[in-house]
Amino acid sequence: MYIEKINLTNFRNYENQEINFNKNINIFYGNNAQGKTNMLEAIYLCAIGKSYRTNRDKELININSEYAKTSVEYTKKDRKGKIEISLTNKKNIYLNDIKLNKISEILGNINIVLFNPDDINIFKEGPSRRRKLLDIMISQLKPVYVYNLNMYLRVLEQKNNYLKQIKYENKKEELLDIWETKLADYAEIIYNYRKKFTEELMKKAIEIHYKITKGKEKIKIKYISDFTNKEEFLKKIKNNRKIDILKGYSSVGIHRDDMKLYINDKEIGIFGSQGQHRSAILSIKLSELEIIKEETEENPILLLDDFMSELDKERRENFLEDVNNTQIIITCTDKLELKNENKKIFYVENGHVNT
Ligand SMILES: Nc1ncnc2c1ncn2[C@@H]1O[C@H](COP(=O)(O)OP(=O)(O)O)[C@@H](O)[C@H]1O
Ligand SMILES: [Mg+2]
Repeated sequence: MYIEKINLTNFRNYENQEINFNKNINIFYGNNAQGKTNMLEAIYLCAIGKSYRTNRDKELININSEYAKTSVEYTKKDRKGKIEISLTNKKNIYLNDIKLNKISEILGNINIVLFNPDDINIFKEGPSRRRKLLDIMISQLKPVYVYNLNMYLRVLEQKNNYLKQIKYENKKEELLDIWETKLADYAEIIYNYRKKFTEELMKKAIEIHYKITKGKEKIKIKYISDFTNKEEFLKKIKNNRKIDILKGYSSVGIHRDDMKLYINDKEIGIFGSQGQHRSAILSIKLSELEIIKEETEENPILLLDDFMSELDKERRENFLEDVNNTQIIITCTDKLELKNENKKIFYVENGHVNT
């Protein structure tokens, strides 16, 4: 699939901007803080329904305005489509001019894979960003996953509230059974999705990483969860009841899941060099690309933020050869010298894009 154009109205540092994309390579270059990443963020917003840089939609609205609008027109194998998002105090999403009831209904229309320079450190930090990465990868393919995840989180919140009520208001402990059973039901669904996806991801990543590192490195992905099966899970939760009541939150559950990565059997989070972190996340993203391709029978759009500057000329060309037939939107500070003829170059300056 590919994006034909995007329209930005009062989005971040843009006022009114239309951009017509090339089907293949698009290069946006310009100095820092001019609006390159903002433009990628707008595409991401139209694909996922929220920004990856902030949870506060208000930040996306131009500082001198009360509302913002982004719309993306795209072409798939069998249809064209348009996603429009308007932001005021509220977020409204339209698919082909029809308002969506739920934000999650946006998923699966525009498929993207984003290379965000911040992701390089994802295996050095705590598990929450890795969970988020996993959640977004799965949600793009299985919108029903989002529903189940949200239900789990809602039940978890209710259960946590009840834990506090037991502690402070002497509520009955037995009533926890209901929340725990509900939690286990949703946990099982989430666990199965995550397990299946991480297995698929590893299968692809092993091959891709082997190639990227010219056979020097073997990558392994391990999905880590408190869940094994419902019975065991419930047992673990109940064993932790006393502690959880004291703490006022749930110390066991799939809200603590993690994904660990090993290079040649050494955990990357502990032993990995900067270069290894970089190529590992690259392998993961390229694996995601392959999975989306297989499941949707469409090539997702690649968004590469400041990514090419990390690679030397030869690696860049190799990389682009590997992902041919894919629409690529690249941002960088220098006009990239690329052999590939099929490209369009844009110059970004202070919220204006010119070809
Ligand atoms: N809501 C907003 N209103 C106006 N300007 C904004 C808003 N949010 C961010 N900006 C501006 O956008 C610029 C950063 O754009 P960005 O796309 O991240 O830069 P880069 O070109 O380096 O990728 C900064 O100058 C910042 O002040
Ligand atoms: Mg940037």
